[in-house]
Amino acid sequence: MRSYVEETGFFGSITAEELVSKYGTPLYVYNENIIRERMREVARVITKYPYRANYSMKANSNLTILKIAHEEGLNADAMSEGEMRLLLKAGFENDRIFFVPNNVSDEELQFAIDHDIMVSLDSLDQLELFGKLNRGGKCSVRINPGVGAGHHEKVVTAGKKTKFGIAEEDVDKIFEVAAKYDLTIAEINQHVGSQYLDPEPFLQAVENFLRIADKFKDLEYIDFGGGYGIPYHKLDDEARFDMDSFTGRFTALLDDYVARLNGPIPLFKSEPGRYCVAEGGVILGRVHATKQNAGHKYAGTDIGMNVLARPTLYDSYHEIEILRNGKAVARDNMEEINVSGNICESGDLLAKDRLLPHIETGDIACVLDAGAYGYSMSSSYNTRPRAAEVMICKDGNDRLIRRRETYEDLFSLFPDET
Ligand code: LLP
Repeated sequence: MRSYVEETGFFGSITAEELVSKYGTPLYVYNENIIRERMREVARVITKYPYRANYSMKANSNLTILKIAHEEGLNADAMSEGEMRLLLKAGFENDRIFFVPNNVSDEELQFAIDHDIMVSLDSLDQLELFGKLNRGGKCSVRINPGVGAGHHEKVVTAGKKTKFGIAEEDVDKIFEVAAKYDLTIAEINQHVGSQYLDPEPFLQAVENFLRIADKFKDLEYIDFGGGYGIPYHKLDDEARFDMDSFTGRFTALLDDYVARLNGPIPLFKSEPGRYCVAEGGVILGRVHATKQNAGHKYAGTDIGMNVLARPTLYDSYHEIEILRNGKAVARDNMEEINVSGNICESGDLLAKDRLLPHIETGDIACVLDAGAYGYSMSSSYNTRPRAAEVMICKDGNDRLIRRRETYEDLFSLFPDET
C-alpha cells in the first residue's frame, strides 16, 4: 500500500494541513466510516447462534465513539466505575453493559449492583465479596482457560503466568461460594490476550473454555473475550485477520458445544476493542527538528510517549506517513531514521531505525492505527496537556469530539488554585 490515508480518503473533505492549522498538534483524527465498518464486522463473527459483540471501551473511550458503538447495536464492556458511568452517559442501557473488573473495591462493585449491571468476578475472593454485597444475585465468573495469546507478554491475559481469572482446578470452589451466598452463575467469561493475527491459541482456549463450560448449568451467556488483531504493518501489505475462516472454525467449536448441551443455548458474546477502532484513528504531529547524532538520524516530533505510549511500553510498531504540501511523500528515496517525541526520556521513540522517506523540519508526521489504546492511554507527563480529538464524520466533515486539555485544566487539581 502506498499511502493509507490517501487510499482510504481518511481526512474526508479537509486536508491534514488544514486540520492541523485549525486544531493544532498533536491531534488525534478518527474516521467514522472506518470505525462503523469495523464494528459491523465484529457484529457478524457468529451468525448461526445468538451472538452479541461487546465493544471493549478501554481501547477508546471517547463519548462520540461510544455513541457510535451504541448506534451500531453493540453491547459494551467496562473495566471500572468510570467506564460504566461513561457508557451510561453514552446511552447504553444497563443490560447492554458488562462489568469485567479485577481487584475492585466494595464501592465499585456496589455501583454495578445498584445499576443492575452484570459483573464478572475474577477471583474466588471477589466472588465472595460480591456474595456478601448481593446475596441471591446473578453474576459471571472469569475463567482462565489455560492458554494465552497476544503481541507482547504484557498483554497476554490467560495461561500459566497471569493475574487474571479463576483456574480450572478451582471451578468446584466457585460452586461452593455460589451456594454459600445463593448466587446464580449465569455467565462465564474469558479473555486470552490482545492483538493476535494467528487464531490458533484463541481457538485452543475456546475449546478448553467450552469443556469447562460443561460443568456449569443453564448458562445464559458465554463470553469469549476480545483480542482480534489488526495489520499494523499495513504499508507493507500485511495480511488482515482472516475473519471468514475464523468464523468457520469458531462456529464449528460452538456446534460441538451445542450438540452436547443439555438445556437452552446461551447467548454467545465477544469483547473486541482494538479491532473496532485502531484503524479508524491516526495522530497528526509536527516535525520540529531533524538532526544527526553519532551517525544516526533523528526526526523530533510533538508525538511523545505522553501522546502514544505503545511504542515505548511494548516496542509496538506503528506505520508513519510523512505529509508535505498536502500529499503523502512518496516511499522511495528511503533512509534509516529514528522518530522521537518531545519527552525527556530516551525511550521516547515512535520508531527506531525505520526506513522512511527523507524527513524535513516542518513536515507533518501521521502515525497510523492509533485509534486503539492511543488517547485512552495518553498522559500529561512532562506537564503537556493531552491532545485534541477530531472526527471525520460520515459526510466527510470534521468535528471536534474532545477539546485539547489546557494548562488551566491541569493546574485546577491543586487545591490552592481553585
Ligand atoms: N476484554 C478484556 C477483559 C480485556 O482485558 C481486553 C483488553 C479486551 C476485552 C479487549 O481486547 P482487544 O480486543 O482490544 O485486544 N494496551 C494494550 C492492550 C491491552 C489490552 C487489555 N485488555 C495495547 O496497546 O496493545
